[in-house]
This record gives sequence, C-alpha cells and structure tokens, in this order.
Amino acid sequence: MYKQVKLLDHYIITGQDSLTVFKTLLESGDYKDRSFFILTDENTSQYCLEILRDYIPEKTVISVISISAGEKNKSINTAEFIWKELNQKHADRNSVLINLGGGTISDIGGFVASNYKRGISFINIPTTLMGMVDAAIGGKNAVNLNEIKNSIGTYRQPDSVYINPVFLKTLPQSEILSGYAEIFKYALINDSGLWEILKKKSFTAFESLEDLITYSVLIKAEIVEQDPWEKGIRKTLNFGHTLGHAFETFLNRMNRPVSHGYAVAAGILCESYLSMRINKLQKKEFEAITTTIHLNFPKLLIRENNDQELISIMKNDKKNQQDKINCSLLNQIGEGKYDQLIPEELLIEALNYYIHG
Ligand code: GLY
Repeated sequence: MYKQVKLLDHYIITGQDSLTVFKTLLESGDYKDRSFFILTDENTSQYCLEILRDYIPEKTVISVISISAGEKNKSINTAEFIWKELNQKHADRNSVLINLGGGTISDIGGFVASNYKRGISFINIPTTLMGMVDAAIGGKNAVNLNEIKNSIGTYRQPDSVYINPVFLKTLPQSEILSGYAEIFKYALINDSGLWEILKKKSFTAFESLEDLITYSVLIKAEIVEQDPWEKGIRKTLNFGHTLGHAFETFLNRMNRPVSHGYAVAAGILCESYLSMRINKLQKKEFEAITTTIHLNFPKLLIRENNDQELISIMKNDKKNQQDKINCSLLNQIGEGKYDQLIPEELLIEALNYYIHG
C-alpha cells in the first residue's frame, strides 16, 4: 500500500510500496534515456543502497557519489566535490540526482542539483525520520556557511519524494527520536487533534510510525503549498528553531554535538515559554508541552553563563529583521504565530527557565 500527497507540481509517495512506485517512474517515458546519480553518505551506502538497488530497473545505469556523513560536511566544499564528481561522470542537464539519506543529504543534494548546469532534476528518498517528515519535503536546499546553518541555499522542489519506513529499521532509536521533535512541532503549530494523540506519551508508545509520517507530510505539504517561498505561514514551521539552532551551533562549537531534533526539542521548550510570556499560550497548555518534551528528550547541557554566546549566535539567524531576533511562536496549541521580534532580556529569561526549570 502507498499513499500520495500532492505538493505544488509533484507527488510525495509514502508507505511500504512507495519504492515500487519509484521503480515504475524510472521505467516510464519521462525518465527514459536520462542518466542517474545517487548521492549517499557512508551510512546510507552501507545500510540503504542495497535496499534501493532492488527497485532500480535492470536497464537503468546509475552512478553513486558518496560523501562523509554529518552536518559538518554540509558545506560549500562538499558541494564542490559533488559538482566535480557529476562533471567527471558526464552528468548533463537531463541527469537526475537521487538523494538517498537524511536531512544533510537532501539539503546538500537539492542544493547541488539546483545549481548544477543552472538546475537539474532531483528525487528525494529520505532514510531518517527527520528527512521523512521534514527535510526532504518542501524544496528548501542549503549548505552551512562555516557554522551558520543553512546560510547559502535555494528553493527548488524535487521531482518527487519516496518515503518508505523500511529505512527506519536501519537507525538507532536516538535518530528516530530526533525526527519525532518535528512531528511534535507540527502538532503544536497546526493540529491540536494530533497534539491530543501525542501529548503525555513517549514516542515508544507508537508501534508503527507510518501513519504519523503520512499525517506529518500532509501538514507540511498543506503549509508549503500555501507559501512555498516562506513569505508568511511557512514561517510557522520554524517554531522551536531559533533557540534550537543556537543550541545546536553552540554545542557543536563546544565539541559536544547534539542531533538537530534534540536541539529543536529544547528550542520548543524555550519558545513555548516565550509563547506563554508574550502570547496567549495558557499555563496549562505550556505545562503539558513541558511534560511531553521531558518524557521524550534529554536535557541539554547549557549553563547560565552561556547566554551571551547563545544570543550572539541567534543574531546570525537568517529570520532576523532589522537586527532583531525573530521567532515563530504559538498563540495556542495548534496555532503558530510568526514574525515575533523578541527582546534580548526575554530570550535570557527563556534560557534561564530552560536551565533551571
Ligand atoms: N524545515 C522548515 C521548512 O521547510 O520550511
């Protein structure tokens, strides 16, 4: 069984049979006589490529380009390496790049594809929960500029996306948990019904994540469809990410890297605190959020005297306006509110809440 979600001019196919649909696509007229390149990292080459190979038609010739895993490799240097590989392997304007991996692979793969020869087609096959519910969907592609996350990038939609939960079996539980933070975010910004299902539960309570994945894809697709260029409502998807990205960057600097989802979960806590302080989020709702986050995610090691460094990282956030730190917060559970300019003293108060709360 598979389900398809339409987003702008392409489809996102989810479910156990999604790769069969991928195979049919490669056999179809649109993709005949085109050269294919699969972008992997050392993890997906080892654990996911063999699974995918079963769905590649015999006659289709594919070259593999592999990069080192990890966010620190999401750089312009790695992009240059991939462009050179594509060039050396004679990729032309009709070639197709298949991004097989987590968020790092779809971010950099989409970036490389959208610039190579002024843009070639790409297909995303996410292999992590984070990739499945967020990074591979919506056409945001980017690399980091030194440590500034996603600073250089493009908006370009993939030709299609295939989401198959089979790949989740290749992951440690901490990776699943990381993606779960984004599912949590969708409930908080957009869907109080989903929140009722998630609240006060550990993610291990869900035997299968397949329905949660499809549901999350539907929420994200509906938001991106309305605002593909992030001029308005799409900004709500950044809830938890201003402080979350700051935590991620700071802990990387300290050589204590933390996965994106863990940082976002901490960001959700701080930004829910801000939503209670300056918006209409009720104390009762805030407490249910903190209970559910604490049930699922470990506390990050942040100290009070880290606050100025964290603020200075936030000052580099690309959402900022006129030098003011801009967050997407909540009005209430199920309703996000974007473009909230937050004074520094309130951010420090939220950090203090996180550290001592
Ligand atoms: N990850 C947020 C977005 O795609 O807009």
